[in-house]
Amino acid sequence: MADTGVLARGVRRRFATVEALSGLDLDVPYGEVTALVGPNGAGKTTLLLILATLLAPDSGEVRIAGIDPVADAEAVRARMGWMPDTFGVYDQLITREYLEFFCEAYRIPRDQARARVSELLELVHLPEFADRPVHVLSRGQKQRLGVARALVHRPKVLLLDEPAAGLDPRSRVELRDLLRAQAAEGVAVLVSSHILSELEEIADRVVFVDRGVAVSDRRVGELGTATESEFRVRALDNEALVAALTRRAVPYEAPAAASEVRVRVASESAAADLLSGLVADGVRVIGFAPVGSQLESAYLAFTEERS
Ligand SMILES: Nc1ncnc2c1ncn2[C@@H]1O[C@H](COP(=O)(O)OP(=O)(O)O)[C@@H](O)[C@H]1O
Ligand SMILES: [Mg+2]
Repeated sequence: MADTGVLARGVRRRFATVEALSGLDLDVPYGEVTALVGPNGAGKTTLLLILATLLAPDSGEVRIAGIDPVADAEAVRARMGWMPDTFGVYDQLITREYLEFFCEAYRIPRDQARARVSELLELVHLPEFADRPVHVLSRGQKQRLGVARALVHRPKVLLLDEPAAGLDPRSRVELRDLLRAQAAEGVAVLVSSHILSELEEIADRVVFVDRGVAVSDRRVGELGTATESEFRVRALDNEALVAALTRRAVPYEAPAAASEVRVRVASESAAADLLSGLVADGVRVIGFAPVGSQLESAYLAFTEERS
């Protein structure tokens, strides 16, 4: 089987009457951060639990680092690190003890565990908290401790469920740097979120999931170019802008109270042509920016397509 961190083919899982996964395919390559993005209830956690050996699929094929989690959960756990969406933080423990506890769970010998914990605390920028109780950590610091916990045994595959949830921008940047560094070392990283913008800057590729099926980033690219996008335009003289758009027969929306106009264009190239056209018409443009990202348009198109 191909050398991929995670491979899933036709994975199905039902809970009573709900089909959480209905034939999902996914590839997570080594050396990259892959984002799994989809609305609440899309099946992300169900999939991650299956990949983490904590839930069995009803059918379909799964390989983690080439190993079948159903046939050999132990071997998968030795190669895979897992951070659940909510994790007990054992608040009374000292940060160092917390990580030592997980080293023990992964049977790392005691003499090595101490050095490993120091190394991990450096890696996640928490060395000054080594001897302080876990409950003094901020949300972002706890998330980084969670990543450290998932890394104790140097896994080749790292799975994180909603790691960026509730993080402030600085903590998000720190999380991004941490995950990107893991990918740079060759780890296959898979992170989920129901908020695309949380992961857009972290991930190399995005896989959308909705109602138990996934669409690969290749499809995302196609959706992206096929989707017309919206741009926000501002000019010193709003009336001159509207007049120029009308002459050019460009569809626009001009909210009464707003000092900006929204236009729909077929592609980025059409947007560039429009901007130079407006300037040539003598419109003094001071703002011209896409509303949302191209990925966001693709995501909306994907979820719309299915509703
Ligand atoms: N243990 C469970 N029992 C019953 N239904 C569940 C269980 N876990 C998940 N589901 C259902 O499966 C669907 C997918 O849930 P989940 O994988 O948690 O989605 P996500 O993580 O994308 O929000 C939802 O409809 C959810 O209600
Ligand atoms: Mg979830």
